Amino acid sequence: MTPTLDDTHCLLTAASKGLGRAAASALVNAGATVTIASRSAENLAAARETILAETDAASDAIRTQVCDLRSSEEITQLVDDTVVAFGGLDVLVTNHGGPPVQPIAETSVEEFDATYELVLRSTFATLRAALPALADGGGSIVNIVSATAPEPKAGDVFQAALRPGIYGLSKSLANEYGPEDVRVNCVCPRGITTERLTEKIDYLAETEGVSHEEAEAMRAAELPLQRLGRPEELGAAVAFLASDDASFITGETIALDGGWSRGAFP
Ligand SMILES: NC(=O)c1ccc[n+]([C@@H]2O[C@H](COP(=O)([O-])OP(=O)(O)OC[C@H]3O[C@@H](n4cnc5c(N)ncnc54)[C@H](OP(=O)(O)O)[C@@H]3O)[C@@H](O)[C@H]2O)c1
Repeated sequence: MTPTLDDTHCLLTAASKGLGRAAASALVNAGATVTIASRSAENLAAARETILAETDAASDAIRTQVCDLRSSEEITQLVDDTVVAFGGLDVLVTNHGGPPVQPIAETSVEEFDATYELVLRSTFATLRAALPALADGGGSIVNIVSATAPEPKAGDVFQAALRPGIYGLSKSLANEYGPEDVRVNCVCPRGITTERLTEKIDYLAETEGVSHEEAEAMRAAELPLQRLGRPEELGAAVAFLASDDASFITGETIALDGGWSRGAFP
């Protein structure tokens, strides 16, 4: 059943493609109005057309705003403009461009700083800017992170070092802002078909000397459900967490990974 998000105003970062766009589409489909942001006005315009076609929503259901998450000034502007345009904010979905996969010996301190800005600093800055508006009347935050982060792999320094900070921040804010009726949760994807996953599958095909289709089947075989995920499956989870259907869920992390996470407990 589609949750109801009428009269609900949402802001989504890094939402011109992939998981961010799918989350925006699910929110709009449930009746919300959204601001979607990314670095590219062109990508945002295309995303807007796609979401309108998917949802049949009125054209004023979607605002777009260019915001490079490496700039805290642009993040503050994004939040302020959205709050003014909507007269408040009910839902924040944080997302960011995915970091490269690389080992410590091939990673300079400068590269680490730049990726920290994209992943953890941008999430902190967005949360910090948006919390006063969310706490004014209550709201819901959903952070898009990664199912891989809690199980750090060799040679994946950014994932291992930076994403756990988002989980920690999320749990701490759930504790701090529960009394203000702000819920804070994470969704943790793996193996969901987006441009980023296609690039990873191309890389796997190249390194393993197999076709794209064979590499895709290898990725699907890692998951108990034996198939890759669809972006709209993550979108449905975001819309659920944003809605009153999830009114007693906070400080939680929900994997959208076809069963890949092996632990019996979250
Ligand atoms: N797909 C999966 O199964 C999966 C699994 C684990 C983790 N994740 C994580 O989930 C996040 C989204 O993944 P995805 O698969 O949807 O990736 P994607 O298809 O590559 O989309 C990335 C989005 O981030 C935006 N973006 C990139 N750099 C930005 C910046 N500096 N400022 C603002 N926006 C920026 C891009 O928009 P513009 O180019 O228009 O700026 C785009 O909308 C990533 O962090 C990824 O690592 C995904």
